Amino acid sequence: MIGFLLFCVFARSLWAQSSPEARAQAMLQRMNFTEKVNMLHGVNGIYVGNVPGNERLGIPSLNLQDGPQGFRITPGTGEVGTSTAWPSSMTIAASWDLDLLYEWAYEMAREFKDKGANVQLAPGIGIARVPNAGRNFEYLCGEDPSFGAAVVVPVIQGIQDQGVMADAKHWINNEIEDQRMTVSANVDERTRFELYYPPFEAAIKAGVLSVMCSYNRINDVWSCHNNETLRHLKENLGFRGFVVSDWTATHSTAQSMNAGLDMEMPLGLFYNEHTLSTAVDSGEVPMEKIDESVYRILLSMYSIGLFDHDSTGDPTANVTSDAHNALARKIAATSTVLVKNDHSLLPLAKSSLRRVVVIGDETTVSGTGSGHVEPAYIITPHQGISLALQGYNVEVEYVDGTDIEAAAELAADADVAIVVVATTCGEGSDRDTLALGNNQDALVSAVAAANPSTVVSVNTPGAVLMPWSNEVPAILVSWLPGQEAGNALADVIFGDVNPSARLHITMPNKDNEVAFTRAQYPGVGEPREASYSEELLIGYRYYDAMDITPRFCFGHGLSYTTFAYSNLIVEAYNETAGSVSVSLDVMNTGTRDGAEVVQLYLSFPTEAGEPLQQLKMFEKVLLRAQQSAKVIFELKNRDLSVWDASSSSWSVVRGAFVVKVGASSRDIRASADFIV
Ligand code: BGC
Repeated sequence: MIGFLLFCVFARSLWAQSSPEARAQAMLQRMNFTEKVNMLHGVNGIYVGNVPGNERLGIPSLNLQDGPQGFRITPGTGEVGTSTAWPSSMTIAASWDLDLLYEWAYEMAREFKDKGANVQLAPGIGIARVPNAGRNFEYLCGEDPSFGAAVVVPVIQGIQDQGVMADAKHWINNEIEDQRMTVSANVDERTRFELYYPPFEAAIKAGVLSVMCSYNRINDVWSCHNNETLRHLKENLGFRGFVVSDWTATHSTAQSMNAGLDMEMPLGLFYNEHTLSTAVDSGEVPMEKIDESVYRILLSMYSIGLFDHDSTGDPTANVTSDAHNALARKIAATSTVLVKNDHSLLPLAKSSLRRVVVIGDETTVSGTGSGHVEPAYIITPHQGISLALQGYNVEVEYVDGTDIEAAAELAADADVAIVVVATTCGEGSDRDTLALGNNQDALVSAVAAANPSTVVSVNTPGAVLMPWSNEVPAILVSWLPGQEAGNALADVIFGDVNPSARLHITMPNKDNEVAFTRAQYPGVGEPREASYSEELLIGYRYYDAMDITPRFCFGHGLSYTTFAYSNLIVEAYNETAGSVSVSLDVMNTGTRDGAEVVQLYLSFPTEAGEPLQQLKMFEKVLLRAQQSAKVIFELKNRDLSVWDASSSSWSVVRGAFVVKVGASSRDIRASADFIV
């Protein structure tokens, strides 16, 4: 008996060493039709998406859970346990720090694993085409595809290194929440290839195991049965995982199956035994299509190791920890962008203070909808500042700012007034305005008039109007910082953390500064049609083209130290290698250690019809005071290419290019050209 058991263990371990492809194929052969169909749709259950396991064949269940800012719990629905309310995707992305992005994803996915989820419905990797789009806070990419393509990679790796599948969403052109269930994003091919596909392409290269198709239509065809876009995903981009529908985004049986939708969520309205057997019997859906979808799901499950490790997760577990609280704090501080700091008002020296007044919103730390994470606690700005000043004999007072006059009066003779303003948004609708609302602009102006040492911290899900920016000396953009908001703010204000984050979106002067017509946004007609007729001119590309100075530009962010750029060398184009080498020196010229984000923008030859300049690469370099470092970039043919719709391929542009390196899109420190 013992010998037989040992043999079984040995055989199992040998089998575990064969390829995921071979194992998925072998499993598929053993499945009957009903068992196959059961894998292709969800059922009601504990997680937001549930595919039951198969006891006969030993197939584990698939447990899919939101979202991109942490494990979603719904308080009041019984035993739910805790999870960390991390900084949002847009927040962490503003750190431009690939190692930190990995850490965020890895530790967040640990909580999913400990709660028994094996698919994290994240990352969100749409592009912020519309500044007020409701879900921008859930997305990593800001308004730039190259930036997006860089930041999604460590996030996919971090999640999947925990043995949890990542799910890149929402494929594709899901940039509008207004009428999101019906709107058609009418996008030409070049625009889609140059702006909207690249982050997904990077996610696929990083090995993402699932992709969620979106609610909207693309050029009038539902995303989840769009033959063109789904074929591109699987055939051209080489995606080998499975496509899951957004929740109720499936609209057909045969058309979806044939186009490449593998799994319907949350239930099997279109994918069930009756509909699929009818479709197979009538010849509308070849049986191979069903097999392919099941195979893709199994392959992803084998690849991530679900058959090799028993899940020990429990959805009711408390998965928060001191280590995660500390990491959430570090990330929120590292992602805070110092956009203004006149006369070096910040950092504040704790020992020079006697009276500090904190005014304003204390609770807005995340967005709403499926991406919302219920914090177990929130460290408010007032608490964070008070904790930081413990032992310093400083009086810290707080008012919520609803009485503007009283707030200004209180601020008048403080050493410093810290005003926290906030707005949020979420799934299902876009913001009506980028203005803060609730008289918060008047509050800032009144406090600033009463006290010249006013620091404003803006909690925002994305672009926001700051009409008072000339009235205050210091502004921090804190995004949606999660549960450790107050501690992170104090860390930056008192200089325990030297700010190193940068804007990955443009901060505008007014609503709709990008001059969308109604046809472009939110779209016209019934059902809604939104024309992407701006083509490549979104975000800073539009501001550059129109020569508009934004409130704060893409790539901008200050530090408590300064950096100098020198020795830019751009080598000649290497035809054989299809590349251009770029190098430069960066020096921390100040007296504090700090990190600079060196940004490389590229201008194409005019005839190419590309935007005036585009971010192609960046590197975040940590430098001790007075230290310098060499930064090396390698531009590849693809970076020098445009999408040629007539030949359906990338085409290297010939002519004179200009490489610009700098600290933001409007702070170019050196440039040089090369010829292809
Ligand atoms: C959202 C998805 C989310 C799903 C499950 C949908 O409404 O668009 O992003 O993952 O719900 O909650």
